[in-house]
Amino acid sequence: MKVLVSLNFPPLGIEMLKQEGLDVTVWKNDIPMTREELIQATKKHDILLSSSIYTLDADFLEKNKHLKLISQFAVGYNNIDIEKATELGIPVTNTPNAMTDATADIAFALMLAVSRKMFHMHKTIISGDWGHFRPQANLGMELKGKTVGIFGMGRIGSEFARRCRGAYNMKVIYHNRTPNPEMENELDASYVSFEELLKESDVLSVHAGLSNETKGLFNADVFSKMKSSAIFINTARGGLHDEKSLIEALQNKVIWGAGLDVTNPEPMNKDNPLLNMENVAITPHIGSATVEARNEMSRLAALNIIQFSRGEPLTNLVD
Ligand code: 8YV
Repeated sequence: MKVLVSLNFPPLGIEMLKQEGLDVTVWKNDIPMTREELIQATKKHDILLSSSIYTLDADFLEKNKHLKLISQFAVGYNNIDIEKATELGIPVTNTPNAMTDATADIAFALMLAVSRKMFHMHKTIISGDWGHFRPQANLGMELKGKTVGIFGMGRIGSEFARRCRGAYNMKVIYHNRTPNPEMENELDASYVSFEELLKESDVLSVHAGLSNETKGLFNADVFSKMKSSAIFINTARGGLHDEKSLIEALQNKVIWGAGLDVTNPEPMNKDNPLLNMENVAITPHIGSATVEARNEMSRLAALNIIQFSRGEPLTNLVD
């Protein structure tokens, strides 16, 4: 079976595929394939090891309906038209759990960075504005004992909540499609309505997938229901928040701060006003960027392909 590895993923998984005797083509260029290059290259392969940077929409899938499997190097798969893939009988797999700790760490780091204006303060040193000691300037807020609201208490949301509880004894509330009794027992977390989550959270962190239900959910109306002292964190997908509304909410002090690892669009425009706000910290979608996470993603993406080629049940099937 011929496998197209669409980016220069860590060698661990690629070696596994080769050892399995699969015919592997790796796109070694640091610059991703253009849409046309991807369409054409995929035509010559049976399996695509894909990334969320590629849009595998209905048109792409129609042009490549011969595909036997799409193995996505990511936990999220909103870049793939899953309905169409299912209709065409193309199984899609992902790499859950590989980046749980790494992403929870980024959410936690952003929360702390925002609460102490760290990215802004770093910039003042570079621009020569350290200045003299001003007892009432640059004051952040402490997190100890505050309430953290988790939107999406799945794997990453739970790990983030554990960090908040462990480090600052924060009260954990959450909103989810279904209650999570494990976190209720372990962290004394309380399931609340979406409205309550907005009203009660000092820090509100988003850990849900991007879907028709969640797209643009965090808009002007939602921000207006949050505390004016609240910090909004998004490490899931930029599409979950409306960026214009977020900018306005911060400018008008509707909420206090924001930490983002995901933006809309990506890459973010370097002139985006969010980049010059004191109470904002932004990283360029590096949630899974650790050696451990990327190696595990590589291993899982390869394992999914190997399971398929051996005719075994697919552990990480999403459609
Ligand atoms: C990746 C991600 O950086 O897993 C996900 O859903 O967003 C990140 O881990 C990226 O999507 C790689 O394809």
